[in-house]
Amino acid sequence: MSDILEHRDAGVLTLTLNRVEKKNSLTRSMYAQLADAIEAARSDADVRVVLLQGQPQIFSAGNDIGDFLNHPPSGQDSPVFRFLHVIASFEKPLLAAVCGPAVGIGTTMLLHCDLVYAGDNAAFSMPFVNLGLCPEAASSLLVPRMLGYHRAAEALLLGEPFYAEAALEVGLVNRVVPPTEVNAMAQAQARKLAAKPLASLIETKRLMKGDLQAQVLARMNEEGQIFGRMLTEPAAREAFTAFVEKRAPDFSKA
Ligand code: COA
Repeated sequence: MSDILEHRDAGVLTLTLNRVEKKNSLTRSMYAQLADAIEAARSDADVRVVLLQGQPQIFSAGNDIGDFLNHPPSGQDSPVFRFLHVIASFEKPLLAAVCGPAVGIGTTMLLHCDLVYAGDNAAFSMPFVNLGLCPEAASSLLVPRMLGYHRAAEALLLGEPFYAEAALEVGLVNRVVPPTEVNAMAQAQARKLAAKPLASLIETKRLMKGDLQAQVLARMNEEGQIFGRMLTEPAAREAFTAFVEKRAPDFSKA
């Protein structure tokens, strides 16, 4: 069974994260498959909308930490950066259905989705600092805009999680429903969009993003360079090693 399931129906491409035993943490090959599928959807007339989803108990534990340790991404054409670039520049509607933990990129990818539906068990966190890293996916730009500076600082400096109701309040998610209903609700909304005129959807999305689009891509590149460097520095190495060894990190020397 693949770690990413692809399903096409009624103009909707549904991409399901399917590595539940590792909490849907994302490996290089998963990012590559996601990036390839979304890239292909750009020019596929049969795909009008893309939906990203996990399972009722977990959306994603973020980047696979073993991969960070052993195969840190380098360069803008590495799978993770390709994935981020393609979702940030995807012209058609992109939806997400989120239940349970959404860690790191599990949260930041949502900033690039047009509609997000969440289970009442959803827990969002961006613990980049706790891992000796910096924000990615243009979250350093988009999270302060969405949450306000001080709440963004709690999320990005302290790395504290926030939950479905708070995400609803700040507008990160559109609606909160029981976890077993989230994927079906997102699918129904995706099908509604897929029945609308595609050119109108694309132009409306482009106009709503406006000047922000170029800023997002520029910030993503800037973050990517810093993130790539920090991945190999002592603080991050200590954080990843501590996670693998199931102990608390010791940053006293990092
Ligand atoms: N990378 C690699 N493996 C991961 C992982 C990750 N990001 N997150 C979880 N796993 C693995 C665990 O190592 C464990 O593997 P094992 O069964 O072989 O020991 C398995 O998934 C289950 O994880 P566990 O931590 O026992 O589940 P939990 O329900 O107690 O906690 C989370 C779930 C998501 C809260 C917790 O796994 C977590 O915090 N993960 C790390 C998140 C993170 O820092 N991601 C990077 C963001 S940039």
